[in-house]
Order: sequence, then structure tokens, then C-alpha cells
Amino acid sequence: MTTVKAALQRASELQDSDSARLDTELLLAFVLGKDRTWLYTWPEKILTDEQAAQFAQLLERRKAGEPVAHLTGRREFWTLNLHVDPNTLIPRPDTELMVEIALELPLPERAQVLDLGTGTGAIALAIASEMPGWQVTAVDRVEAAVQLAERNRAEHGIGNARVLVSDWYEQLAGQKYDLIVSNPPYIAGDDPHLEQGDVRFEPSSALVADDEGLADIRKIAEGAQAHLVPGGWLMVEHGWQQAEAVRQVFSEYGFGSIESRKDLAGWERVTLGLLGSEPRRMGSERKL
Ligand SMILES: C[S@@+](CC[C@H](N)C(=O)[O-])C[C@H]1O[C@@H](n2cnc3c(N)ncnc32)[C@H](O)[C@@H]1O
Repeated sequence: MTTVKAALQRASELQDSDSARLDTELLLAFVLGKDRTWLYTWPEKILTDEQAAQFAQLLERRKAGEPVAHLTGRREFWTLNLHVDPNTLIPRPDTELMVEIALELPLPERAQVLDLGTGTGAIALAIASEMPGWQVTAVDRVEAAVQLAERNRAEHGIGNARVLVSDWYEQLAGQKYDLIVSNPPYIAGDDPHLEQGDVRFEPSSALVADDEGLADIRKIAEGAQAHLVPGGWLMVEHGWQQAEAVRQVFSEYGFGSIESRKDLAGWERVTLGLLGSEPRRMGSERKL
């Protein structure tokens, strides 16, 4: 007989995970169809044989390194509970910084926003859910990712976002935006981190870029010139050691007011810039 309390104690078996307790809670809550609080309210409840077997199997897969989000098929991002699958990146908490900055920008009331490489739809759907007056277009080259993002869009009833298949700007001829955001692939192919943790189970199409990880950011900055209105913003997420190189790329492609913002760990992980010399600001000359 396995109680909830005993099942949670199996966290000690996940020695390779730096979030062993949380992983165990998420897996057990998933198997029981409850939330994590329930586990602590009912520690003496007994799992059925079926539940105990399913939990044991998931724990083994976690021990072998599979990401919790792939085991449960879900991940929280911003205020949204999103479907996740192995066709694209599992949304990371750090990426919420992109959403925070987007919501602070002095954009028009009916802003047009583009999310390049949307994956699960995380950034696009978070922004669209906060700003019902904005129109958000989200694209990905991987059709399965587009289907996933569309499933997430529909499930959350977000009517001001649309998702389509496109290789960066390819299907967006003639379209202009007030803000383009992207969390593109930016890891160099020989980066040893690709052999560690969750990324081992994520597709290289979501992770790896040529030119020391900068090739896609370069393409995005280049294409943004034709797809931003004058005074429009480009914002990308990048690696913790890439900020200076990304600022250089932005500068080469004519962006001004370029700056990088730090994540919670203190690393510069997001760079943004404005197309055209005159910042389009509402109200005060606020420093971002
Ligand atoms: C790092 S993931 C980001 C996913 C999501 N935006 C997030 O932040 O969780 C990069 C995404 O870019 C997509 N991608 C890669 N190359 C692309 C291209 N040429 N055109 C459009 N999307 C691309 C990948 O399929 C993947 O979904």
C-alpha cells in the first residue's frame, strides 16, 4: 500500500534532478489528477494499484532524464497552463521577462505584434491574453509546433492571436508590426550544455543555430527592417554570453535605443532596439 506521503518520499531517488521534490510533486499530482496543495492536505490517502504503478513508471522515466513537462504534457507559463510536446521547446520561466518588457513598451492601443518561432505559443499567447486590443501573429517553421500553439490558443479562448507556419518572415510579405519578439534557437552546435538536462529531449530545430548561435538572430534582425513600422521595436531572447554580440547585430541592421535586460539571475538575456532614430514614447522619457 502506497500513501501520498510515502510516494512523495521517493523524491530522494531523483538524485540527478536539482528540483527533485517539485518533480515528484508534479508527477504525483498529475497521476492523481489533483493539484500540489492537495498532496499536503491528504498525506495519508492511499494510491490505487494502477496509480502506484503509473507513478513508479513516470519516476523511472524522470530518473532517465525525461523532462517533467514531457511526462505530464503540460507546463505553466505566465498565467497560462500550456500543452507541451517534444516538437518544440518547453517554455522556460526566464522567457517571461520578454512578456514583462513587451507589456511595458509604449505601443499603440491596437498594436500589431509578431512572435517568431512561437513553439507552444507561450510568448504570443501570454501577450495576447494581457492585451485584448492588440493583434498577435505567431509563426513557427515546424508544423507540429504550430498545431500545438493553435491548440493552446483555442483552449485558452484567445481570439486576438493567430498562428501560422512560416520560415521566419517568409509567409508575411507586406505585413508590418509595432513589435517583433522572438526567442529563437541560439545555442552553438558544439555547446556542451546540449548534453545536459532537459535540452537532451528537445529538438535541435528549437535550440541550435549556426555562427556560434547567432545566425537566426541575425536573420530576424535583418528581416525586421522590412516588417517593422517606423519606431517599431525588435526584442529577442539570447544566451547569457551573447548580449554584446546581439547588440552589435542590432546596430548593424540600423536599430537604435539598443539595450539588454537582465534575467532574475542577473544575466543579460534579452536585447531590444528601436527601428528609426526617434523613439516613439508615450508620456515620460522612461528608461526601460
Ligand atoms: C527556442 S524555441 C522558442 C519557443 C517559444 N517561443 C518559447 O519561448 O518557449 C525556438 C522556436 O523557433 C522555431 N524555429 C526555428 N527555426 C525557425 C524558422 N526558420 N522559422 C520559424 N520558426 C523557427 C522552432 O521550431 C522553435 O519552436
